[in-house]
Amino acid sequence: MIAIYPGSFDPITFGHLDIIERGVVLFEKVIVAVLYNPNKQPLFSVEKRVEQIIQCTRHLPQVEVDSFVGLTVDYAKLHQAKVLLRGLRVLSDFEKELQMAHTNKTLAEDVETVFLATKKEYSFLSSSTIKEIAQFGGPISHLVPENVVKDLQSYYS
Ligand code: PNS
Repeated sequence: MIAIYPGSFDPITFGHLDIIERGVVLFEKVIVAVLYNPNKQPLFSVEKRVEQIIQCTRHLPQVEVDSFVGLTVDYAKLHQAKVLLRGLRVLSDFEKELQMAHTNKTLAEDVETVFLATKKEYSFLSSSTIKEIAQFGGPISHLVPENVVKDLQSYYS
């Protein structure tokens, strides 16, 4: 079974990577799909984010990395995927995630959302927090993969 792991990944964190690594144990293939969102001002371009994810998932042959525009369920259908994979960190994620899962269900009855609880040690992690720490020169190597550390440091240097 193929699972789509959609998201912004601006940038990918160890929390995301944990979900991907556990996702490949459950699914034959996990397609990490970076959303091109014209309403958001990301730090890294979609192409850069795709490259960052490719680099840090090289050890996982069941992972594909791609980008998309539009509805996640349409992208899932295009790849014959019946599962959307999402991570749940804390209770405050739940409301937004449940709303998205219900919305997606109304758009595509045969696509299921599967949630994995993020590992406790990454439950506080978010891409925005990491960008904030990096901006002020704080340590981030325990939060994001090495290639992303370099990209953030060169962006803010
Ligand atoms: O990493 P994020 O920003 O929490 O990911 C959110 C994402 C990309 C999964 C969500 O915004 C999304 O699926 N957007 C695509 C548009 C869509 O399908 N909307 C309907 C479902 S809410």
